[in-house]
This record gives sequence, structure tokens and C-alpha cells, in this order.
Amino acid sequence: MQKPVEGFSKFSKEEKIEWLADHYTDNADETKKILARYWNTDMSVQKLHDEFIENTLSNYYLPFAIAPNFLINGQLYAIPMAIEESSVVAAASKAAKFWLSRGGFKANVIDTEKVGQVHFFYHGEKNRLFAFFEEIEDTLMIAAKTITRNMEKRGGGVKSITLRDKTDALDGYYQLHCTFETLDAMGANFINSCLEQFATTFKEAAHDLGEIEITMSILSNYVPKCTVRVEVSCPLSALNEDDMPPETFAKKMVQAIQIAKSDPYRAVTHNKGIMNGIDAVVLATGNDFRAVEAGVHAYAAKDGTYSSLTHAEIENELFTFWMEVPLALGTVGGLTSLHPMVKLALEILQNPSARELMQIVAVAGLAQNFAALRSLITTGIQKGHMKMHLLNMLNQMGATEKEKEKLIDYFKTNIVSNASVKEALENVRNGHHD
Ligand code: MEV
Repeated sequence: MQKPVEGFSKFSKEEKIEWLADHYTDNADETKKILARYWNTDMSVQKLHDEFIENTLSNYYLPFAIAPNFLINGQLYAIPMAIEESSVVAAASKAAKFWLSRGGFKANVIDTEKVGQVHFFYHGEKNRLFAFFEEIEDTLMIAAKTITRNMEKRGGGVKSITLRDKTDALDGYYQLHCTFETLDAMGANFINSCLEQFATTFKEAAHDLGEIEITMSILSNYVPKCTVRVEVSCPLSALNEDDMPPETFAKKMVQAIQIAKSDPYRAVTHNKGIMNGIDAVVLATGNDFRAVEAGVHAYAAKDGTYSSLTHAEIENELFTFWMEVPLALGTVGGLTSLHPMVKLALEILQNPSARELMQIVAVAGLAQNFAALRSLITTGIQKGHMKMHLLNMLNQMGATEKEKEKLIDYFKTNIVSNASVKEALENVRNGHHD
């Protein structure tokens, strides 16, 4: 039985590793070796990572890749992606190439409104509270001026504060529901600072009203008015690359989406595929993928049941495939100027504004869904998936570079499965593939 540790965060990194190795792993030397192998040799980079979070012991790498040939609103992008799943970048690149010769992706930002709320309880007279709010609204804005001044100079700031009566949900529950324009910043710190100031000023000014009990002040990651629309379309006849008549291909694409619209089991997986693309770019550009995930999935359920984020139609011989998603992203602040790989990712994207990044990220999501559905309705997903996974399997089985070369060639025409790869590797080792 382990004992709790006191003052762990004050230990040096070496002491933390020593303690961990002694208490929670079987082989202390091996633990230390693995952690040390992932330290960055550049001490300044390592220090940066050490200071991102508390109790850093080492780094956790994800592959950083590029999916080239994305034509978005007439401009070509190579999209940086950070992700561990074998087939995601290959699928994105394939979809980019497919649409490159068919007009590319069209993207436009619909709105960029962020949201934050002060949640509080008040058990006095409702009318008095609303009358008081009318009086105090300007004071709230003025009290936050030191926080909002710079953002306002750039054209952003607090857009609105409304008092919302939530007493139907909970006895005495009200909100200051606030909306913000945070321009190129994701804005979490800005929004939370404004909200905490609103809460303090509101409570102070309300002393004649009776008890206002502030529960909390926090931004919302549900941003249904911070959305971007992305679309591809082409004549039916141009859907001619697969071993399937274009009309059948288009019809099956539409069916696949109708299925995801009618069944949450399928919708979740369908949308997960979209998030493969979205998260990879969100991560590479140093944005908060948990915030994006939470907001996107809530949006997928906005009409009462969880549904497909993408849509498709065939009209007048034209196939159109599109998506509208909420994305609260930043290209300034946070990790964007701190993490060297994030800075590079943004440079690769030509230092986009937050609005441009919303378009690029959403395109990566739409492309990923197109690639997934295209495989699913034609060859099935496993063919491409297992091909991409082959190297992982071979590495896991300890194959040498020479053995890998032979087997990659062999599996160009053979079906990849765990058993078939194992058998083929044994055959190579026994000289049967020479
Ligand atoms: C795998 O990561 C994603 C897919 O399952 C998405 C889908 O089924 O649409 C292939």
C-alpha cells in the first residue's frame, strides 16, 4: 500500500523521478532511462516544456506532419497536423488532392461570438433585480475597462451583458450572460477576467437588494455563434475516381450521411472521424482541443439528438458536401508565441488570423470525413487503415529495416492483419520470401 507524498511539487525533477521510479514502476533504471530519452537536448526548449505544467518529468511526443495541396478559397495550404493515428494524414492528403482538381474548398466564417457567464443566486424580488441590472449595466462595462481597453483598441471587447432568469431550472438561479469579440485570441483569460470583474462589481453594487450569492464566473466552451461553414462541390460526372459509377458514389455518400443523421451510434463515429482532422490541426497550432471537442459535440446535439456535423446533397447533377462547426481558436496568446513547433505551424499556414485558422481547421475536418466515407462506401476502411498500420505492427514485432522493406512490398498485394503480418515476418526470417 502506497503512502501519500508531501510537498511533491517542491521536489526537484530528479527527486520526482526517483520517487516515481521507487514507488510506482518495477524497474527504476528503465523508468529513468525512458524519461531521460525524451528530454530535449536543447536546455532552453526543455525548460520551456518543464514550465508549461507542474511536475513535468519528460516530454510526450506526437508525430508532426504536413498534408499538402489544400486549396481553400483559391489559396494553397500545406496543413500541419499533430496526431498519432496512422491513417489520418494520408487520408487528409488524399482528400486534398481529390478536391484540388475539382475547385477546392470554399470556407467562410459565419460569426465569432464568444460567451461567458456569471452564475449567481438571488432569492429577493425578481422585478427589483431586473430594474437594478438596467441601472448597473454601464457600471459593469466601466469597471472592466482596464481589462478591455487594449482589446477595444483593436476592435474587440465585451459585446453584451444580459441578465437571464434561470429560476425555472433552479430556485433563485440567475446568470449574467455575456458575449465577447476576442479577435485573434481564443480569449479564455480575457473573458474570465472580465467575468470575475463583473461579478465583483455586481455584488458590491447590489448591497441594497439583499443577498446575491455568486457561485462562479467562467467562459462557456459552447460557442454556437462562433461558427465556420466549409463546402466542396462538383458535377456528378467528376466523381469518377473510384471503382464505382459516379451516381452510385454520390448516392452512397448521401446515404452515409443520412445514416449518421438518423443514428447516434453512427453519428458519434462519423463525427469522431471529422475530429481526427480538426484535433490534429488544433493541436499543431497550439489551441485547446478539449474546448473544441466539447463545443463541437454539443453543437452536434443542438437540435435535441446527437447528429452528423456534415451534410450532402445531389441537386441538378451537382454533388455538394458541407459542414458548419463552432471553433473558438486563437492565433495570438496562449502557446502560440511560446512553443517553437506551434510558431512554425502557424508560419507554415502563413500566420493566419483566427478567422482564417477557423476555415483551415474546418476544412481539415471536412476533408477527413470525405476521405473516411469514401473508403467506407467503396473498399471498406480496413484496407487503407491496415496498410498504414503495417509499420506500427512491424515495429512492434521487432522487424529490421530490411525485413520491413520486404514486407511493405509483399503487403502491396496481400491483406494486412495481425496474423498475416506475423506469418509473413516468420517466412522472411526463414528465408521463404527471398
Ligand atoms: C477512425 O479514426 C475514423 C472513422 O471510424 C470515421 C468514420 O467511421 O467515419 C473511419
